[in-house]
Order: sequence, then C-alpha cells, then structure tokens
Amino acid sequence: MHNIVRLLEEKRAQARLGGGQARIDAQHAKGKLTARERLEVLLDEGSFEEWDLFVEHRCSDFGMDAQKVPGDGVVTGHGLINGRPVFVFSQDFTVFGGSLSEAHAQKICKIMDTAMRVGAPVIGINDSGGARIQEGVASLGGYAEVFQRNVTASGVVPQISLIMGPCAGGAVYSPALTDFIFMVKDSSYMFVTGPDVVKTVTHEEVTAEDLGGALTHTTRSGVADLAFENDIEALIRVREFFNYLPSNNREKAPACASDDPPDRDEPSLDTLVPENPNQPYDMRELITKVADDGGFFELQPEHAGNILIGFGRMGGQTVGFVANQPLVLAGCLDIKSSIKAARFVRFCDAFNIPVVTFVDVPGFLPGTSQEYGGIIKHGAKLLYAYAECTVPKVTVITRKAYGGAYDVMSSKHLRGDVNFAWPAAEIAVMGAKGAVEIIFRSEKDDPEKLAAREAEYRGKFANPFIAGARGYIDDVIMPHGTRRRVCRALAMLRDKKIDEPWRKHGNLPL
Ligand code: HXC
Repeated sequence: MHNIVRLLEEKRAQARLGGGQARIDAQHAKGKLTARERLEVLLDEGSFEEWDLFVEHRCSDFGMDAQKVPGDGVVTGHGLINGRPVFVFSQDFTVFGGSLSEAHAQKICKIMDTAMRVGAPVIGINDSGGARIQEGVASLGGYAEVFQRNVTASGVVPQISLIMGPCAGGAVYSPALTDFIFMVKDSSYMFVTGPDVVKTVTHEEVTAEDLGGALTHTTRSGVADLAFENDIEALIRVREFFNYLPSNNREKAPACASDDPPDRDEPSLDTLVPENPNQPYDMRELITKVADDGGFFELQPEHAGNILIGFGRMGGQTVGFVANQPLVLAGCLDIKSSIKAARFVRFCDAFNIPVVTFVDVPGFLPGTSQEYGGIIKHGAKLLYAYAECTVPKVTVITRKAYGGAYDVMSSKHLRGDVNFAWPAAEIAVMGAKGAVEIIFRSEKDDPEKLAAREAEYRGKFANPFIAGARGYIDDVIMPHGTRRRVCRALAMLRDKKIDEPWRKHGNLPL
C-alpha cells in the first residue's frame, strides 16, 4: 500500500512536469502558459477533476518505448466555469509537441463522450504539432475518432476551441468542426500545410504568421472568431463568453440579472439614422444601446464587417444579434457576410438562443467577383439559416430593406415572429434611383422627368407603410422605444414552439 501511494505521487509529479523543466521554460519564453496553467485560469479555482493521468502511449517504434510521460501530452477532465460544468482538454506542447497519439486521442474522446452523456459543453485547448509522426496510421485513426465526436456533438453541446500554439495538419480540423475558435496573437497558427510544404508545392514564400496566424484567420479567412493578446486574456474572455451559452440543446442559456430596465427608453436612437439615406451610421451603436448594460460580445469584428454578429442579453436572457453594418460596403450582403451570419444564426437556433436582427441593407453586392465566387449559393446559406430557424426571431428594419436582402434578413415570410420598422424604413424592390432607371428607361435622356419619377417612386415606396398594409411588419416603432418593444416581444415569445415535418436533415447549400 505504502509503495503504491509513493508510486502514485511519483507519477503525479512526473505528469505535472510534462516534457521536463527545460521544455516548460521554453514554453514560458514564448509567452505561453503550460497546459495545466491554462486550465487553472480557465476553470473555477479548485474545480478541476483530472482524468486519465496514467494513460501512456503504446508505441514502441523509433525508441518510443523509452519515452513515456504519464498523460501522454494532453490534460483532460472536467471542472466548473462560474459554477457550471464543462469538459476540457488541454494539449501539452512540452510532450512530443502536443502531438496526437492513439492514446492521446482516446483521452479526448472519453471526455467528449461523457460531456454528451451529461449535457455539458466541451472546451479544447489546442497546442499541437498534429499527428504523432512516430505512430503513423494509429494517430490518423485517433484524429478521425475525435472528428466523429465533434460532428456527433454538433448542435447537442456547445464546443469551443482555443488555439494557443501551432495547429498543423489534422490538428486544425477538429477545431474547424467546433462552434467557435479563439486564437492568441503571435503565438498561435492554424494551417493544413505549413510554410515549408507551401513553398515546395506552390513556390510561395510565406511566414507562418501570414499563412495561418491569428490576424489572418480573424480578418481574411474568417476561420477564427476572435484574436486575443495573450493566453491569460484569451482564457478570461472565454470564461465570460461561456456565460452566454446554454449547457446543451435542451436548456436555455442561464439568465443574468441586470439593473437595466427592459423598458428603458434610449432617446439618442431617434437621431441615429441620418437624414441623407446615403449617409452611413454605426449599427454597433444601436446594439450596444438596446442590449442589457450595453453588453455586446461581438464575434468576427474584423471579418466581413458589413454584418455584425455576437451575443448580448435583453431582459436578462441571452440573444444573438445579427445586424447589417452601413459603415462597411453600405451594409450590402456579400459572400463572406452571408456565410458569417448564417453559421451564427444556425448556432443560435441549435441552442435555443433568440435571434434579434437589425436590418439596413441596400441589397446583395453586385459584381463579377461575387457572381463567380458563388454569391447565389452562399447568399442562400443565410436565407436557409433564417428560414429553418425556429427560435424566437425579432426583426427591426431601421432604414433600407431592399430586394432579396429584405426577404433574407429574417423577414415575416421566413417565419419572423415579430417584425418592426422604424419610421425611416424603406422597404422596396430597390432604391428609387435604380428603380426609375429600369422602369422608365425610355425617359433616360430627360433628367428632369427622371428626377420627378424618382421623387414619385421614393414618395410611394420609401416608407414602411406599404409593407405595413400587408402585415409584413407588425408595427412602426419609434427608435427610442426599441429596447422596450424588443424585450416585450422576446418575453411574449419565450415559450414559442414550431413543429416541423419529419426529415433526416435538410440540404443546406454548402
Ligand atoms: C511527434 C512532434 C511532432 C509530431 C513536433 N514534435 N511535432 N513529435 N509528432 N507531429 C516534437 C518535436 O520533435 C520536438 O521534440 C517537440 O515536439 C517540439 O517541436 P519543435 O519543432 O522543436 O517546436 P517548434 O520549433 O516550436 O515547431 C513546432 C511545429 C513543428 C511547427 C509544430 O514541430 C512541426 O512542424 N511539427 C510537425 C508538424 C506536422 O507536419 N505534423 C504532422 C501533420 S500531418 P523535442 O524532443 O525536440 O522537444 C497530420 C495528419 C492528420 O496531422 C490528418 C488527419 C485528417
């Protein structure tokens, strides 16, 4: 007995040392925390229950039988974040570069399986050189086992990936299957093939940072949702983010009491929309002025800035905000913004989070790059997402709602539950200028006549009443009362239910 306890202590000490003090120092020198230090920041103090500390790899090739570290390069278990259960894995770069062996994968699979059984989210901290090269196909099999679980868990429990080091090869695909990806600037990378392979195959010279750093993925590619300055900031912000989410698809997100009255008026909103319909304004201001205590956890702020997405609360309940942003591309929908918003709406729908949509959209962005890039298919993703979405949907048209984009942005026709318009709303097939140029083409050489036609068209359609007359909007509301009206609508819709016809699954235009 005495010996066993001593052995246990030895193994624990060995596991805590991971790949050894020198490698821990190297990790610190890069400004990175170790796998265990990260869990200490992420989880409530003293709540971590570690599993599988005694797991070792089973590889004997390349002298591996002489190099065994208890835990095999990943720390797994469960704990609490603000009192709510969460399952976690944290890859240890000091052990074989955090690379994924068969045993390492089995540890991750075990916590994912249990998370599914008990209905708790999974947070993965990724810091890995990819497949454990010494293990060959056993490692590839391990990855695929994790991928399968990512997919099975999708829409059942929230899955969050933190990228806190290199993620190469197979290491990127598990995060890609999860709901949210957060990176750390200057110390995290994601690429399917690294700079050396890129150079060999395409002769392109590119740094790891440019190829797959946090800035690349939060601006150009849109693969990641946010980039943070360092490990600590990332982990603390993820704790905050976690509070917006329910534990699983059968629960609602936790309510968060606030002193901000749901019927608070916001007089400044009455002057948010400029008189000139071509002048932009910041839609972010509307979101922060109507959300509880001005809280808006924005996702992908630097990618596809023409649409805003993120979580906030109204009346204490989590809502997902989606809003056209007139400051960027006049708020047009394009390929990137459609994909960005569609995935967000689908997450909200899967996890019982009501969607509040603010609309100011002059239409889909025209052009060959959009058409050749497949805007038809990608725009349809957002249309599909809103149409299939059955959680409460509240929509406010602040100004323009033109053409197909009017239909797409949570319109009444796509089962929008409560659709409001501000007095400045213009709901039409297109703007007055474009409209008269088409329907009065024969008068194109007579600018005076054309101007009169334009004024006539604007007078007729640049208002919310034609849509109102058909019941396409439920009410025209004053901007200052937006918070009150949306909060009331959400309270009324709290127990909304929609029965759908049976099907295996729809066929989202991918
Ligand atoms: C085994 C690995 C490893 C791996 C790193 N190490 N990657 N061991 N398998 N995949 C080990 C190194 O040998 C080294 O051991 C230690 O981890 C730290 O690695 P360094 O190279 O010294 O660190 P650094 O300079 O920071 O570079 C990190 C790195 C680089 C960029 C991740 O190590 C690298 O390029 N690794 C290989 C990446 C890769 O090609 N992976 C396979 C992808 S294919 P010592 O003992 O010296 O400390 C793949 C297929 C899956 O994943 C597909 C599924 C769909």
